[in-house]
Amino acid sequence: MSEQILFKVTVDNITIEVPAGTTILQAARQIGGAVAPPAMCYYSKLKGSGGKCRTCLVEVSKGSEKDPRPMPKLVASCRTTVMDGMEVKNITSEKVIDARAGVVEFLLLNHPLDCPICDQAGECHLQDLSFEHGAANTRYEFQRRTFKKHDLGKHIQLHMTRCILCYRCVFTADELTNKRVHGILDRGDHAEIATHIEKSLDNEFIGNVIDVCPVGALTDKTFRFKNRVWFLKPMDAHRDCPTCSGRVTLWNRGDEVYRVTARKDEWGEIEDTPQGKPGWICNTCRFDKKQSSDWVIEGPRAISRQSVIAQGHYAGKVGTTIPKETFSAINDGRAPHLLMDIHNESEVNQTNIHLSENEGSSNGTTFNHNINNA
Ligand code: SF4
Ligand code: FES
Repeated sequence: MSEQILFKVTVDNITIEVPAGTTILQAARQIGGAVAPPAMCYYSKLKGSGGKCRTCLVEVSKGSEKDPRPMPKLVASCRTTVMDGMEVKNITSEKVIDARAGVVEFLLLNHPLDCPICDQAGECHLQDLSFEHGAANTRYEFQRRTFKKHDLGKHIQLHMTRCILCYRCVFTADELTNKRVHGILDRGDHAEIATHIEKSLDNEFIGNVIDVCPVGALTDKTFRFKNRVWFLKPMDAHRDCPTCSGRVTLWNRGDEVYRVTARKDEWGEIEDTPQGKPGWICNTCRFDKKQSSDWVIEGPRAISRQSVIAQGHYAGKVGTTIPKETFSAINDGRAPHLLMDIHNESEVNQTNIHLSENEGSSNGTTFNHNINNA
């Protein structure tokens, strides 16, 4: 067996040895933390991904040991392989930080300010990027793009205005289905995700496009508008599924299962199964198994401390705890003059209605319907 050739590469002053053929992004991920550039279109589990969004730009200040000249332009780290002796600057380069701010500004040109109503909020890579690099205001003076609505079927909701055209969902369908029925139609600023002649996405593995979408362009219709992710408790669970690995994360509130997703790693990508294969999950596990009794619960999922999801400190087996009284704490010990209970005041906060049992998305009509039928 031939010996593996290792290249020495330095990213932000940290040196590591990686096999020849490794990309700068993968080498930086091996170092970990903030040294790893953000990636909106690259997805290690999808062949051909990367090279679209430019969020992963880095500066190569030394090409290699043999040819130490710096690369003249910033390069996409997800598509550039390392050379022996290469030196790369990511967060230590002003040029990179400046360019990334520009890329984020472009990505946000047509992006609606949907975070308050978007199901992806709290786990959206674009939200994180704009928090770190985005400007407070837009300089854009033109109308934002609008699109004709396309119905992708009973499970997946498309919000084209949020799409950043990363192609991940297209590559996912290529990889997991025999016949892809959606893709990017048209070009330039007319480019959009659509199916040709209103087909629905119903392959048994197509739900995985929801997990790979870095923004809220593709969301789960069975979870839409039902809860904010930071109010849910992620639990690792599995079931004996004849179709997929059956290894999932359940997103619970109390004992109610609100959402089922594949397990994701620290880069937001699908985790591998113990057999070393990507842990894609089937539609049945994702959309139909919404009872705790359908699953063997393994335990709480570890969530990064930096994530807003980690801020929901729920205790107990799967249940929620009532937060401690904080009014007097934030009011310097004074009691409030008037306290209204949101459940009594608002018809969209009815504690007696189990949102996860509701077919489709929830809104005011759902609640009125339930109230009228009560
Ligand atoms: S819908 Fe999502 S995954 Fe598909 S191209 Fe748009 S942003 Fe990427
Ligand atoms: S992640 Fe490298 S170009 Fe998009």
